[in-house]
Amino acid sequence: MTDLSKYLRDIKTPCYIYDLAEISRRLAYLKKHLPDSIALYYAVKANSNLHILQALRGSVDGLDLSSGGELEQALAAGYLPQNFSFAGPGKTTAELELAIKSACGSISAESPDDLRRIETVARTLGPQAFVSLRINPATLNEHFALKMGGKATQFGFDEENLKTLPKLKNTAISGLHIYAGTQCLNASGLQENFQNIFSLAQKLSKKLKFQLQKVNIGGGFGIDYFRGQQPLDIAAVCKALSRAAAGFGQNQPRTKIILELGRWLLAPAGYYLCSVLNIKKSRGKTFVIVDGGMHQNQAATGQLGQIIRKNYKITNLTRPRSKKLKVELAGCLCTPLDMLATGLEIAGPRVGDILCVPNSGAYGYTASPLFFLGHPTPPEYLIQDGQVKLIRPSRRLIEFN
Ligand SMILES: Cc1ncc(COP(=O)(O)O)c(C=O)c1O
Repeated sequence: MTDLSKYLRDIKTPCYIYDLAEISRRLAYLKKHLPDSIALYYAVKANSNLHILQALRGSVDGLDLSSGGELEQALAAGYLPQNFSFAGPGKTTAELELAIKSACGSISAESPDDLRRIETVARTLGPQAFVSLRINPATLNEHFALKMGGKATQFGFDEENLKTLPKLKNTAISGLHIYAGTQCLNASGLQENFQNIFSLAQKLSKKLKFQLQKVNIGGGFGIDYFRGQQPLDIAAVCKALSRAAAGFGQNQPRTKIILELGRWLLAPAGYYLCSVLNIKKSRGKTFVIVDGGMHQNQAATGQLGQIIRKNYKITNLTRPRSKKLKVELAGCLCTPLDMLATGLEIAGPRVGDILCVPNSGAYGYTASPLFFLGHPTPPEYLIQDGQVKLIRPSRRLIEFN
């Protein structure tokens, strides 16, 4: 964990603070332990802050994008569109126009209709669209906390229904995209997933008789958010992926393999900080109420895919060595859903203390209902070369009118 104590004077809570060195360490680890045949794409949905995108530009091979907004942000950050992979089950005509006009490296077609719409837009505009077929595999991988394939889903063509490719004039189908899910903490589960994807890719390229130029194998590497969870064995994952990719490469030597990661790269590099506003007792419980909450970090309140809510490993930065207390940590919203932790053992907080929610760098700011109840948005800070700088200011509701 980054030592945040020296930056606390220069920031205002509630806020996000990211440590660029941690992201760089993670990228460097993957670069060192994976073969060059694997391109590393960053999934912008995890954290789309412009300064972060700019800071990562030289260290990733491309970007996974899921909206026209992210595409515009990626262009603004100076990335080359040929290294974009644009996916999503409902792409509007305007988004497809932007992707095709920008010569986006790969647009994932998620259904026969989606493919037809891509072709229609490309035909109207003139240039070719470069497309990967997103596949919904027949087998479900149980190891992903949130499963996005292997069942009835809005994502991708069902594997078993793909018999032939349609003849298209302005659309070049050259790749496959398979994303099984997210938050997998089991290295063997990921190994199974890689093997399944590579054998499926080989089978489909033969069956559909097309030159497989790229296969996007998704991401989904998990983070140990809760006490008692073991971190993902990243060394074992890299070994398994290197082995699976080498086997695939023997049969498909010219196919580019794309790994698209968000959570594993960004989550541990980000912290959500909030300050204690009030402390009250109610029927034997101590409620600590902070100036942040679910509107700014929805995932930490357990409302982003958790079935049974669990506490993040929240700490008191102001008073880390105080005697521990058991508290209910409530956000400042007037809804009982706004609980950052229940029965949390934390160094005794007092009004004004700064509390830290770790593992908040991915799906924190981007996956929160920032307008809910109209509080200002949290500022975002970046620690870079030992300095902390503001990379997105707080904005008040009235500024969005
Ligand atoms: C298509 C696609 N690619 C990549 C990602 C990033 O996954 P993760 O953050 O688990 O690495 C997602 C997340 O939902 C996704 O839907």
